[in-house]
Amino acid sequence: MAAVPVVGTSCQDRMVFVVVGVTGGIAAYKAVHLVRLLVKAGHDVHVVPTADAVRFVGLPTWEAISRNPVTTSVHDDVARVRHVALGQSADLVIVAPATANSLAKMATGLADDLLGTTLLATTAPVVVAPAMHAEMWRHPATVRNVQTLRERGVTVVGPDDGALTGGDSGPGRMSEPEAILEAALAAAEVRTDLAGLHVVVSAGGTREPIDPVRFIGNRSSGRQGVAVAVAAAERGAQVTLVAAHVDDGVLAEASGHAHVELRRAGTAAELADAVVAAASSADVVVMAAAVADYRVAEVSPLKRTKESAPGGLALELVETEDILAGLVQRRRGDQTIVGFAAETPADGETLVERGRRKAARKGTDLLAVNEVGWSKGFESADNAVTLIDRDGAVVSTASGSKRAVADALWDAVLDVRRKRGAPLGGHAPRP
Ligand code: CTP
Repeated sequence: MAAVPVVGTSCQDRMVFVVVGVTGGIAAYKAVHLVRLLVKAGHDVHVVPTADAVRFVGLPTWEAISRNPVTTSVHDDVARVRHVALGQSADLVIVAPATANSLAKMATGLADDLLGTTLLATTAPVVVAPAMHAEMWRHPATVRNVQTLRERGVTVVGPDDGALTGGDSGPGRMSEPEAILEAALAAAEVRTDLAGLHVVVSAGGTREPIDPVRFIGNRSSGRQGVAVAVAAAERGAQVTLVAAHVDDGVLAEASGHAHVELRRAGTAAELADAVVAAASSADVVVMAAAVADYRVAEVSPLKRTKESAPGGLALELVETEDILAGLVQRRRGDQTIVGFAAETPADGETLVERGRRKAARKGTDLLAVNEVGWSKGFESADNAVTLIDRDGAVVSTASGSKRAVADALWDAVLDVRRKRGAPLGGHAPRP
């Protein structure tokens, strides 16, 4: 039997704190697009232009595009020790464009401005995108400086060959922002393997009304579903998150993400409508929501009172629509449908067996089976799941934070899609 991969708690697909240093070259205008791409991808971007750079593109542009305050001097915001704080906080530093002068300063370790101090204070990966005239790029001084930076672990992107500002041509054009972004995210080990895919994730628990003040609900907090949505967005997907009664505190991480569209649902029927509508254009649907299996046959328009039901109350419950099974029936050829199954058996073998039967009954491409109980699964920050494919085979197990479990789930989804020849992410840019 093939070994089942076990996934731990690594977390590389995250929003990163990025410092973008901009030095004084005409390519500074292209760096505006780079900042925009980083912000759109959900990263926290801090632009540090040099004094020369703001002669090409002004502070208001950088502030508006990055959505963060921008200063150039080591004497600004001294109380917060900004001249080193930015470098210390950074997960990634990009210098684009990097002029010949700025490469020389970096190689020497000069720190006569905010970018210089930031670069000396950081231990984060540094990526530079040189831009200059071909002669300056070929000059032995620049060649030596670039070699020094490479030896120090700096990633150098480009420059590209082509027409330069003075009408001449040769190596010296700054690489395109998309290429710089890709290299920078790779240097910071941020994955973009779901880019270009539209995914729908349901989260939380539905509530079925009994009367205007009471409902039948469940204990799902929505944490696992929200983690699945955030993981997908940070790995590049366009996400529709359908949330049923998820606390705003739990939702905050997802609702603030540029690539998560949030829709809310209350009952199983509302969740069905929202998920089915969003699924029509989705590549992957993950049903992480705990959907009520039954609803009250007749919802009372008035509050039920003890006077109207003295001594006891019997409610007639009728089955709700099985949303997951319906999605499987309507599945387009290359769509991947994923379910969750919360089970309460006593031992692991029974858990997996029940998961297999449920996967077969529902026809899911993947089913994430997790054990729940009075003190297990719900409201906790951690989870443990076994992933079962369409043939009932256990493809992986994952445990750790709900985010780590979410990443393992997306890895398994990509494996399923790869095996079926369905389009993968990581190539097409997001709209
Ligand atoms: N599900 C659904 N619609 C329902 C009930 C469940 O789409 N009316 C989905 C859940 O979102 C989950 C999966 O089906 O992804 C399994 O849910 P679960 O409650 O474990 O399965 P049930 O079919 O309800 O089976 P049972 O409760 O009998 O174990």
